[in-house]
Amino acid sequence: MRGLFITFEGNDGSGKSSALETILNQLKNEGYDVIYSREPGGSKVAEKIREVILDKDNLGMDDKTEALLYAASRREHINKTILPALNEGKIILCDRYIDSSLAYQGYARNLGIDEVYNMNQFATSGLLPDLTILVCVRPEVGLSRIKKDERDLDRLELEKMSFHQKVYEGYLKLADKFKDRIVVINGEQSKEKVVEDIEKVLYPLLKKYQK
Ligand code: TYD
Repeated sequence: MRGLFITFEGNDGSGKSSALETILNQLKNEGYDVIYSREPGGSKVAEKIREVILDKDNLGMDDKTEALLYAASRREHINKTILPALNEGKIILCDRYIDSSLAYQGYARNLGIDEVYNMNQFATSGLLPDLTILVCVRPEVGLSRIKKDERDLDRLELEKMSFHQKVYEGYLKLADKFKDRIVVINGEQSKEKVVEDIEKVLYPLLKKYQK
């Protein structure tokens, strides 16, 4: 039996992680066999790669190095966490996956969406999500939310406004390119409405899947 692989994507400050948490708890309460994971990270080696990628000491990192590190971390994550869970028939809700690489490295860093996609095909052996929930906010809205947070910003969040603008545009291009898989949710609505919109696309898929 194969489970379900659902990814959550969004630009910085979109609120995707908090919506994901609400949906995760809800599905658990409803008796679904659901697990949470995230990228970069999600397994032992992948978490170590995450530290290198997000470290503010590494500000001068080469763009291709960055893309390769995300892909390496993804491969570990797939082998150690995603595939075993899917083989056990579980539902995985994953905070970020391949579309983050396509939007951030492919489009915003100008490595090319197709080039980064091909490199990720090699890294993932072609594993794509069953559904991708893309929570989007205009970059100025996302950044103002992040700045209100007390926490330290990581290396990617410290990027210039023009970079965040490109990430946003990149995601919208992906939504257009992968219409069958990606559903766009307006992250500028209230949290309740964001969750409600996600439920509308998620539950029809879950219905086809046995609890
Ligand atoms: P994280 O703190 O996990 O961010 P968030 O709460 O925004 O999900 O940091 C992950 C950062 O890495 C985020 O800025 C997006 C970026 N990223 C990429 O650039 N490429 C990728 O393939 C992935 C998975 C993340």
